[in-house]
Amino acid sequence: GPDDGGGTNVTLYRATVLDTPGDLPTADGLRASEDCGLVVHDGIITFRGDFAGVRAAFPDEEVVDLRGGVLLPGFVDTHVHYPQVRVVGGLGMPLLDWLRECALPEELSLADPVYAHGVARDFLSGLVHAGTTTALVFGSHFADAVDALFTEAETVGLRITAGLVVSDRLLAPGLHTTPAAALRDGEELVARWHGRGRLRYAVSPRFALSASEAMLESCAALMDAAPGLWFTSHLNENVDEIEHVNRLFPGAADYLGTYDAHGLVNARSVLAHNVHPSAAELGVLAGAGAAVAHCPSSNSALGSGLFPLRDHLDAGVRVALGTDVGAGTGFSLLKEGLQAYFVQQLLGPDGLTLTPAHLLHLATRSGALALGLGDRVGDLGVGREFDAVRLHPRPGSTLDVALRHPKDATDALAKIFTLGTPADIDVVWVAGQVVTAPAQLSRDGSL
Ligand code: GUN
Ligand code: ZN
Repeated sequence: GPDDGGGTNVTLYRATVLDTPGDLPTADGLRASEDCGLVVHDGIITFRGDFAGVRAAFPDEEVVDLRGGVLLPGFVDTHVHYPQVRVVGGLGMPLLDWLRECALPEELSLADPVYAHGVARDFLSGLVHAGTTTALVFGSHFADAVDALFTEAETVGLRITAGLVVSDRLLAPGLHTTPAAALRDGEELVARWHGRGRLRYAVSPRFALSASEAMLESCAALMDAAPGLWFTSHLNENVDEIEHVNRLFPGAADYLGTYDAHGLVNARSVLAHNVHPSAAELGVLAGAGAAVAHCPSSNSALGSGLFPLRDHLDAGVRVALGTDVGAGTGFSLLKEGLQAYFVQQLLGPDGLTLTPAHLLHLATRSGALALGLGDRVGDLGVGREFDAVRLHPRPGSTLDVALRHPKDATDALAKIFTLGTPADIDVVWVAGQVVTAPAQLSRDGSL
């Protein structure tokens, strides 16, 4: 029950729990517990079993009865752009046109810290409403705007890894910095935010196209500023982009080589997209233990291509999901799961027919592992922190109707990925605490 004064807080949750505790996405990795009891002690799951048995062992604890819905691990978004929350929906353009017309003008607006705070709140609200509890976030080109994101994220309580986005060519002059300023600003942000609560810092050159060798070298120097920093950027998203990168880096073996030459590809690296990799690049990614953030709705919206998931998994490359808002079409990892499934179907014999268990793993456990958080979150097993979402469809909605008579747990999960939206997420917990979106807070005036 509530804090007993001795500093411990124990709650027993009763729910239908679906999760995928394995290390890799597989066809049969679903763990389904129909009437499950989860004991959560100071935010950590300490006991899991059939409810009746757990209740007998914990007769006095407060029970939170979540029956009538489904409990899933909190979703993990491994690639999402905070400054782009207000430009979702810019359809009809390939990557480089979309950046010029849609994304970059909005990103310039974050030079104003007041504007940036508003965007940060909108962004975090989008994550919470979609049930995302952990995210690797592409930040802003402006240090004050990155402070705004971390400040608001700390208030909300989500697990956020983010950083200052750096570029020194080919965007808009207002978005450029210098390698020296990038290093100095990065060091200051790392000192303020990295390792503070649930926040961590990611070194984030926008992409090789907008970074000189000197800028990538400054990123490598920043990686040494503190232990445990993350690295994120874009990779092999669009064929025109790749051609430009090859021209700008004649000495690099390939697109990945532009980062790898500076030591930026390792087990703490997450590269977004990789729709058009070479076999050599997949080999380097696998050997380095780097992860790829697959962003299917973005890849379709921008016409970037069909993600070769089978090639990644066959090569041993770790893959997780990203929404890539704002090129992506919203914050829902359920939607990304469905879109990932569609893409594989469209690949025909080259595609991998994804099961609901694959999709849940990609949306939760794969992301936790990609972000080095696999020992803390990503499933609802004993020892993990209680990061969870309760899915509870509106009565009479198609998902509600569909979930009344599922054939089995796999069928229920298929229906959830096919029909579920943020409107179906009704409670979100991080480390056992209910998280509330900033927009809700300002509407009801409670904070
Ligand atoms: N490559 C460089 N910047 C971006 C971006 O903002 N979105 C996407 N999808 N790709 C990028
Ligand atoms: Zn992106």
